[in-house]
Amino acid sequence: MTDAAPPIRALVADVLHDIIVNGNSLDHALEQARSCAANSNVAFLQESVYGVLRNYYALCSTLDGLLKRAIKPRDAPLKMLILAGLNELLNMTTAPYAAVDQSVAACDALGRRWAKGLVNGILRATLRQTSNALTRVTSDEIKWNHPAWLISDLARDWPQQYPAILIANNQHAPLTLRVNRLRGSREGYLELLCRAGIAATPTLIAPMGIHLVKPHSVFELPGFEAGLFSVQDEAAQLAAPLLDCHPGQRVLDACAAPGGKATHLLEQAPDIELTALDCDPKRQQLLAANLVRLRLSCAVMVGDAAQIANHPAHGNYERILLDAPCSATGVIRRHPDIKMHRRPRDISEFQVRQLSLLSAAWSCLVPDGQLLYATCSVLAAENDRVIEQFMTANSQSAQSVSISEEWGIGTQFGRQILPGEHAMDGFYYALLRKAGTAVSSS
Ligand SMILES: C[S@@+](CC[C@H](N)C(=O)[O-])C[C@H]1O[C@@H](n2cnc3c(N)ncnc32)[C@H](O)[C@@H]1O
Repeated sequence: MTDAAPPIRALVADVLHDIIVNGNSLDHALEQARSCAANSNVAFLQESVYGVLRNYYALCSTLDGLLKRAIKPRDAPLKMLILAGLNELLNMTTAPYAAVDQSVAACDALGRRWAKGLVNGILRATLRQTSNALTRVTSDEIKWNHPAWLISDLARDWPQQYPAILIANNQHAPLTLRVNRLRGSREGYLELLCRAGIAATPTLIAPMGIHLVKPHSVFELPGFEAGLFSVQDEAAQLAAPLLDCHPGQRVLDACAAPGGKATHLLEQAPDIELTALDCDPKRQQLLAANLVRLRLSCAVMVGDAAQIANHPAHGNYERILLDAPCSATGVIRRHPDIKMHRRPRDISEFQVRQLSLLSAAWSCLVPDGQLLYATCSVLAAENDRVIEQFMTANSQSAQSVSISEEWGIGTQFGRQILPGEHAMDGFYYALLRKAGTAVSSS
């Protein structure tokens, strides 16, 4: 930050405007804003932005109840400032009068000096009432802080579990590490953390996972640059063991960037011949940097996996990981902007892409080879329904392999982890084997 840094609450309003009104991603908007904020304000910026996104529908309802006239669309940044002020008063621990005064002061930086009285009035009125009196729960959107279409899709797919999913989606996610087994043991790294005064516990299921009790920047943790660990949710750490790669096997990671699972595959079985393919060159640069940091290597290729037949990565693979692009409805707690950005039609569009990626990847699998299909979605349309359609269209060659694990919920074709189970993200896995009699199309 510099002396000219904008007041932090104006920056929060700008970031929220960028995400909610302009449709930019939370990650992108925050990355830009962090460089404009004083170091001491970054934690506040993040907590405030995440908090508004998590509580968005209830905060809008509270604001509507306090306004005589709706805020005009051209004053959307002002609306964001007030929502952030309400969130601060209702859900954060900053001193209430500082929250009011600083929100009022931020009107100048937003070019809306005229609105100081309005902001002051709304936030002071909020202080005079209890939160129950403020927020009238008149819809499921307000009750669960999710869009109605997503609530109804989750209720359809998970009639027993959907309330717990919705609650988990609005909670904080833990920071989870995966220790690089080629550079040390989990016990050894826990010891290093303990010596550095960083509280941590081993994950219950993933053998190399560690939960940190409090979030930290990776640069504050021992051995990041030396490749001792990666940041990876525990649910994502279950992919590499499921694919069960053996030394010398040719393995394709068809949607590999930024390499969380590809690097795990290499840590588990360094002698495989891994090809890491992804269509996004920038994300492939991140993958390449992760390989260097973790002291690993594999073939890194940029290309469209749906067109793999025309790409040098086409070949005979014994193992394929297809970590498909998806709605990311299993990781809303990490990316609460997904609630604002996804539309119902996105789900069927993802389904079409997933099926086409699956068919293309299948053409590279040798007889008796195995393909692991993974998504961070909790919607059946992107999970069991994709596998079902694929199995129907490939009934001669595709066999479903049962995943015998204790974690998750067994579904028709795979296993679904719902967000919050053992503090994990929502993830789906299905394992397919190519019938030994089928002829590879390479
Ligand atoms: C869920 S992310 C993969 C995460 C990665 N496996 C990991 O563990 O770090 C999905 C990836 O699919 C890539 N992708 C989307 N469509 C693709 C396509 N047609 N061909 C190749 N990659 C694609 C995206 O660029 C994105 O990096």
